[in-house]
Amino acid sequence: MKLNKRLLNLSEMVTSPYHLVWDCCCDHGLLGFKILADGLVKQVNFVDLVPAIIDKLDKKLSMYAYHLPNDVSWNTFCQDVASLQLMEDKHQSQLSPIPKQLVIISGVGGELMIDMLEGLMQRYRGYNIDYLLCPVQHTYKLRTALIKLNFKLKEERLVVENKRGYELLLVNQVVGKEISLSGKKIWEPKNSHKQYLVKLIAHYQRMESSDSSHKLSQLDQELNTKALMDYRLVLQEYYQNTVESHWNVNEDKDESLF
Ligand SMILES: C[S@@+](CC[C@H](N)C(=O)[O-])C[C@H]1O[C@@H](n2cnc3c(N)ncnc32)[C@H](O)[C@@H]1O
Repeated sequence: MKLNKRLLNLSEMVTSPYHLVWDCCCDHGLLGFKILADGLVKQVNFVDLVPAIIDKLDKKLSMYAYHLPNDVSWNTFCQDVASLQLMEDKHQSQLSPIPKQLVIISGVGGELMIDMLEGLMQRYRGYNIDYLLCPVQHTYKLRTALIKLNFKLKEERLVVENKRGYELLLVNQVVGKEISLSGKKIWEPKNSHKQYLVKLIAHYQRMESSDSSHKLSQLDQELNTKALMDYRLVLQEYYQNTVESHWNVNEDKDESLF
């Protein structure tokens, strides 16, 4: 089973022996399968909204189960992530210093991910559950929503693959540090990282000068302006002042974005 760089990085961020991992928006199910194959986690629940995807996955899981350790198990659920029953006792979960459950949501847009998390937070606000998130676009807006929902940061990474940047965030309602809107810790002295940043700035510049920007809500317009300022600041402070001197030494072999 060959995982792409993004899925591999997500699987590497699963370092705790959770009792249960939810692979939400699972589609092909490769991430959950890799987590089971790694053997640290014994139970994975796969969730997707589309019945045909879950049917296909059920068959694939039975067919390839011989690759998995004998003591692991899984379930599949065809449902909306926002309405999941996580089966977690709040009191118990807060007594345990280590979260017993991990909810992974990966490969959907940041705005849709916000809807899912807001749905889950109606029932699981303040629970010691880990969430591993990998949005496709709208990461700044997602980070804004995470802060508003009182999430805290445990780990974050930036993965650049096939000319696209993906921000991976491990967050929790109880444990962790303050979340930064522009992802202060993710930026490394790599060309691919700088190019992702330049691409983000270009996106928010386009949004600001676009004829249709007035169609956005006041809140979204303000958010875009703030994102543009914040990303410009990262470029200025981090890349131009701090890192430029080390630039050639730390050159990585990532594909160029342009
Ligand atoms: C591009 S795939 C992501 C696959 C994998 N998680 C990844 O990161 O590569 C997105 C999947 O999300 C599912 N999806 C979209 N909205 C959903 C929702 N509200 N609840 C559950 N699944 C959803 C879609 O059916 C689709 O299979």
